[in-house]
Amino acid sequence: MARRDPHSYYDDAQPKIASFDLEFRVDFGKKRLAAKVKLSLESEVKGVLHLDSRDLKINNVSLEDGTQLKYKLHPKDPVLGSLFEIEFDSPSKNVVVEYEVPENASALQWLNPSQTKGKSQPFLFSQCQAIHARSLVPLQDSPAVRVTYTASITVPAALTAVMAAGSAGTSEDPVKGEKTHFFKMPQPIPPYLFAFAAGRIAAKEVGPRTRVWAEPEVLDKAAYEFEETENMIREAEALFGPYEWERFDLLVLPPSFPYGGMENPRLTFLTPTLIAGDRSLVAVVVHELAHSWTGNLVTNANAEHFWINEGFTVWAERRILEKLYGSEAAVMSYAQGFSSLRGALDRFGADSPFTCLVTRLEGVSPDDVFSEVPYEKGCLFLRLLEDTVSRPSWDRFIRAYIEKYRFTSIETAELRSFIEKHFPGIMEKVGGDEWLLSPGIPGNCPQVQSQRLEFISNLSAAFKHGTYPSSAEISAMNTSEKLVYLHGLGRPLSREECAWLETNFELKSVSNSEILCEWLTIAASSDYEPAFPKIRAFLSEVGRMKYLRPIYKAMANSERTRALASEIYSATKDSLHQLSANVIGQEIEKYGKG
Ligand code: BES
Ligand code: ZN
Repeated sequence: MARRDPHSYYDDAQPKIASFDLEFRVDFGKKRLAAKVKLSLESEVKGVLHLDSRDLKINNVSLEDGTQLKYKLHPKDPVLGSLFEIEFDSPSKNVVVEYEVPENASALQWLNPSQTKGKSQPFLFSQCQAIHARSLVPLQDSPAVRVTYTASITVPAALTAVMAAGSAGTSEDPVKGEKTHFFKMPQPIPPYLFAFAAGRIAAKEVGPRTRVWAEPEVLDKAAYEFEETENMIREAEALFGPYEWERFDLLVLPPSFPYGGMENPRLTFLTPTLIAGDRSLVAVVVHELAHSWTGNLVTNANAEHFWINEGFTVWAERRILEKLYGSEAAVMSYAQGFSSLRGALDRFGADSPFTCLVTRLEGVSPDDVFSEVPYEKGCLFLRLLEDTVSRPSWDRFIRAYIEKYRFTSIETAELRSFIEKHFPGIMEKVGGDEWLLSPGIPGNCPQVQSQRLEFISNLSAAFKHGTYPSSAEISAMNTSEKLVYLHGLGRPLSREECAWLETNFELKSVSNSEILCEWLTIAASSDYEPAFPKIRAFLSEVGRMKYLRPIYKAMANSERTRALASEIYSATKDSLHQLSANVIGQEIEKYGKG
């Protein structure tokens, strides 16, 4: 027996699940799912089958013909959940489990109508990456396993259910006032890409293979924001080969969604904070799209190799950005990425093992060590390889890599030898093992620069000497440039400096969520009282962890902001996503420790 994934009870001496057929009935009143799943194994299981589960209430386990099976739900491990052990008296390829998914399922957020735009209907969505699929379906919840599936989701007839899968029709039960939505996922996925949502949503076509789903109140704006999606897909296909998932639909979630985007196949999930009105934040869509190759086709074998998903995707995202919006856009993205990497190194400490690309996560929850390191250090390592072997050779390599590993899951060692095979001696030449296995940023890290970036950085550095940009210079800055400028300012700033920024960058009326977050972080760390109402409003509305963490962290700086933070947290914590609540809880806990 061998367990190769520190986050799963999957035992590779036992057959893998090849597919499942799932039924969910959503009970919004009791906030739970009634569920039934038939798991089909790739070969006959003899003896026992070990599955992952978390907080599932198992009602019945049987063979397809109804023969009851013995099972044991082991005590819950805080990271892994409960080992769910099924005993087979005779060899079988199937097992049927009837169960309930409780309200606190770690993959779910149940929203009250007040947490939606329309205020009239509840909403439900899932977020399974990295190890939450097991709270929805008992299975081998390791990305080393790939499954296809069919599913049906029954919801009140006023609501619509969507999945990261192909749709396969609906049926209605007028007596019960319910509607069942059917789905089929033909492409094999790692379990973390299982995803669904249900709410009062509608769709609008924005391209031949893209429709945008959103609450009706924001649908037109969302459709406008994401109208360029087909261009993105075409550029990505030119770089990485055919798009293999048929459709690339987008689902705009309510603001409590804890991430910017999640690359659920065929249906990317997005935060509504991307809807800026001017398409300035669509890089997140490019990122999630890029995962269709790097991540969803070629998948990290477990969370210790997460950089294989995210490093490649950030690198790919920036190549697509360069094609669509020019090299300056890619340079600005590198610059923002680099400062976020510095932030992560400060947070962990530059010697921390969590700043390595390959991590050791036995006993550690992936959510607790989520950071920019796999994204940005991973991207920079790949950029170094690209610069070293030349872009045309690297692009051929990437194509070969995707072709070779499509629909499989790999560890870093596999990738390392594939790179060496293509470019013998390259690892030694670039210090590959230091990049992969040592903490911090290696000395040969690529410096991505441009004149414009240097100009903005210098302008930003001059602020503390009292040299401020002219209004012409400010209006010439695009969103990324403003972000680089604001991020480069020291903090805390004085009241006068904050007031100057507030007036001259028109921050009182800014609605762009990235700029707003950057500003509120400055204001919070500077104890700038005029911005407190905005801080309160933003933190009460938005659940995106990328925004919550820096603002709450900045509020540690003074007694008054600490008090404000605790007050806002108490008022909002019941309506936050569990992941967001944990992140803020951790930040607030640090206040006490100074
Ligand atoms: N796959 C991630 C989100 C994720 C990572 C969810 C780990 C759960 C565990 C997604 O592709 C992502 O990276 N989103 C970023 C967007 C970005 C880097 C442009 C985000 O949410 O901010
Ligand atoms: Zn990503």
